[in-house]
Amino acid sequence: MSSISEFVEDTKSQAVDELSDLLRIPSVSTVSAHDSDCRHAAEWIEQYLKRLNFSRTELKADENHPVVWGVGPNAPGKPTVLVYGHYDVQPPDPLSLWESDPFTPTVRDGKLYARGVSDDKGQVVAVLKGFEAAVRNGEVPVNLRVLIEGQEESGGEVLFGLLEREPELTEADVVVVSDMAYYLPGYPAVYTGLRGICYAEITVRTAKADLHSGAYGGVAPNAHEALLRILAKLKAPSGRIRIPGLYDLVERPSKQILNGWKSLPFSETKFRKHEVRSRALTGLSRYTVLERLWALPTFEIHGISGGFTGEGAKTVIPSEAMAKVSLRLVPRQTASKVLLLLKKAVRELAPSYADVDIRSIHSGDPVLVNTDAPVFESLSRAFVEVEGRAPVLIRSGGSIPIVPELRKRGATMILTGIGLPDDGLHAPNEKLNLDQFYKGMEVFGRFFELLGEA
Ligand code: BES
Ligand code: ZN
Repeated sequence: MSSISEFVEDTKSQAVDELSDLLRIPSVSTVSAHDSDCRHAAEWIEQYLKRLNFSRTELKADENHPVVWGVGPNAPGKPTVLVYGHYDVQPPDPLSLWESDPFTPTVRDGKLYARGVSDDKGQVVAVLKGFEAAVRNGEVPVNLRVLIEGQEESGGEVLFGLLEREPELTEADVVVVSDMAYYLPGYPAVYTGLRGICYAEITVRTAKADLHSGAYGGVAPNAHEALLRILAKLKAPSGRIRIPGLYDLVERPSKQILNGWKSLPFSETKFRKHEVRSRALTGLSRYTVLERLWALPTFEIHGISGGFTGEGAKTVIPSEAMAKVSLRLVPRQTASKVLLLLKKAVRELAPSYADVDIRSIHSGDPVLVNTDAPVFESLSRAFVEVEGRAPVLIRSGGSIPIVPELRKRGATMILTGIGLPDDGLHAPNEKLNLDQFYKGMEVFGRFFELLGEA
């Protein structure tokens, strides 16, 4: 048994207790009612870094969603590793679908259930525990820098501002982002790209106020009808998004990349039945499911509000309707350009009698990263030792807004993770398998050790 795995064996139940303390803090960044909880989560992490003998810790840039900054114990001559993660989480609703309270971490069947356990608190703790394991015998393997933000789930504005003012915070040889999942159980992954996102709110107004649907029905314009017509026209039944210009910059991955994806174990039926849990998969059927997920843009309607949806019936013609929508973006597209295309398309589709307002809520650009630097060898070795398999190279359909900015700064960017695809990110009953958490501590511990030896 290596000293790392001994450490994990001896401390794993304490690690779960510590993680559970962090999970009890409802640090939802998307609604202001949780501002003080976000701050509290940041303070918790800062205290945790202090326990790890960090030489400097600071809460930076914002009262409500501070960025946790930390400098680990000094390791002269060793590489500098920047660990990025986020302590904020998505809202837990619908609450009624949770089997246990989202902020009361609960173990069932070897899985820890709580909002944020896989995305991203459990992963942040696993990396830091790995570091703790690797320094235990007195020698510090790497110069660790920690940058944990509290707005990843809401666009990352605070961190963008901070890095503009203090670019030196990101000086490092390697950046580690553990906010993703294995490809499949037993198949660790290193990510070569993330999609971007352009999230917007579309509001349609058709009259000064709501109207009696008997007195005015037949002549008065209906805001919901106008909005729905617009939305329905934005995507063809084939799955093709009808925003002129949207596909112009989409570049098909090379044959070599596509062949790599084709060689991954993948069962469309299993994926549909166990992950998507639907009767069918939709989208552009000319492309494989993985290509649709990783290399093509999307358009989704997240929710529609306005008008009457209360108990009973109310005969009213709504004068205003609002939809939250987003597009996922692929390499070469940019969020700012796509927002303009969306605005133009919506305005053109809107009936002349409707006032349409499109407001950006947040955005992030897509990113591709190289995975040929020597540090990937160390990570690969760590995964082989712990999991028995080297990571597969894949992309993610999800987004992490700050990653393109971090990548620009020159350090080698490692995108990986210890979750599993069925962890239920952003959904009810989010979980992290405890053995993934323990393996994660071990993988990162070995990774830091190997980096220190290199
Ligand atoms: N951890 C996820 C990113 C992710 C999702 C990776 C799925 C792998 C698979 C991240 O925390 C996230 O959810 N990001 C948001 C960003 C957005 C709100 C700006 C996302 O992708 O929706
Ligand atoms: Zn995340």
